[in-house]
Amino acid sequence: MSEGKKRKFILKGFSKLIKEDKLKIVAEMMDNQVETVELLKSFWHKDVERQKVFDEFSENTISNFYIPYGVAPNFIVNDKSYLAPLVIEESSVVAAASSSARFWSEHGGFKAEIKGVVKIGQVHFLWEGDYKKLQFSFDELKMFLRERTKNITAKMESRGGGILNIELVDMRDKIDNYFQIKVSFDTRDSMGANFINSCLEEIANSMENFFLEKDIFKGKEKNCKIIMSILSNYTPDCLVRTWVNCKISELDNIDNDMSGDEFAEKFKLAVKIAEIDPYRATTHNKGIFNGIDAVAIATGNDFRAIEAAGHTYASKDGAYSSLSHVQIEEDNFKFYLEIPLAMGTVGGLTSLHPLAKHSLQMLGNPSAEELMMIASAVGLANNFAAIRSLVTKGIQIGHMKMHLMNILNNFKATKDEKKKAVEHFMAHKVSFSSVEQFLLNLRSATK
Ligand code: MEV
Repeated sequence: MSEGKKRKFILKGFSKLIKEDKLKIVAEMMDNQVETVELLKSFWHKDVERQKVFDEFSENTISNFYIPYGVAPNFIVNDKSYLAPLVIEESSVVAAASSSARFWSEHGGFKAEIKGVVKIGQVHFLWEGDYKKLQFSFDELKMFLRERTKNITAKMESRGGGILNIELVDMRDKIDNYFQIKVSFDTRDSMGANFINSCLEEIANSMENFFLEKDIFKGKEKNCKIIMSILSNYTPDCLVRTWVNCKISELDNIDNDMSGDEFAEKFKLAVKIAEIDPYRATTHNKGIFNGIDAVAIATGNDFRAIEAAGHTYASKDGAYSSLSHVQIEEDNFKFYLEIPLAMGTVGGLTSLHPLAKHSLQMLGNPSAEELMMIASAVGLANNFAAIRSLVTKGIQIGHMKMHLMNILNNFKATKDEKKKAVEHFMAHKVSFSSVEQFLLNLRSATK
């Protein structure tokens, strides 16, 4: 928005307008109205039906925002090969994942195991009646709630999932009269957010009826006050453990100036620093999520939910810490990651988004558990690549090399200039100013 047009405004009924009119309103707020419309329209899909699908994923859509879709080959997880789909804008992430995958493909690949697939939902409520009566009737309440949610859970149960347990949690030491109904779920191959939330809302409504209708609570004021019902994105029991290991001597060739022993010790120390220092841990874990989020987006999964769970899990022992760890025992190096990953391979965007569907096909249509193992392997691969660079040559050489194209595009370099720049910067340090200077020299020489 231009300075001149910056003002306070309220747009009423915007969501009810057709897309073209929304676009027009947005363009009117800009200095360059014609270019704005042209730009935003240029990213519309040429196939009207396909564009409609994208428009309907969200609201008030006026265009599509492109993010590159890349592939990291050579991922071997539990002896099975995968081409990992990665949707990410950061230039070095796919290269880092690919180089780690390649390295570990020659050293036994990634191993992974599922430690659990349980998800949690909560009904938060105040109980102002007699606690003993609540406790006494809880078994009956549970049966009642299972009965009342049957129409929602039937299909999930036929797939082997459903409600696993319903518990009463006394939280009165934190907030007066505060209790929770904690419900655990198995949502099979679906991420299950809608399923869980539908069950919880039904449970909350049914609870109120139960207490109103049951004789021992009758005649009293309303005992039970529902505050809210919602799934928890913290899924410590929907957990995957992934690792790589090799003989320390197999790390000998990683860096010219370091033996395998020295590399392994320095690597371990770098991870130890992330274990004890939240500043470093945050960046360290961000490197893990570089890979995991990219797979989550490529497969139509909710990366915000996955990130939130991961960061909470990283704080489970009271301080924010590294999600990955190193063990060196005698001549063996082991690098592992334990992370909650609530992922799905059916429902939601996984089948609606044509590229999410393609990603899953490219992975051989995995179950949710298999996808958890693949995504965590990609996360561990990115983490390995980052620490390997950090404790050897530093990350900027690789990063800036990958960033070279972005800088060249920024200066509107031609195809020929790009070719010459790539050759030149094989042997020179890339920085914004060194690329600018290179192009200036090149352009003045060819004048
Ligand atoms: C950059 O996207 C990620 C890293 O900063 C991760 C790390 O420092 O471990 C390289």
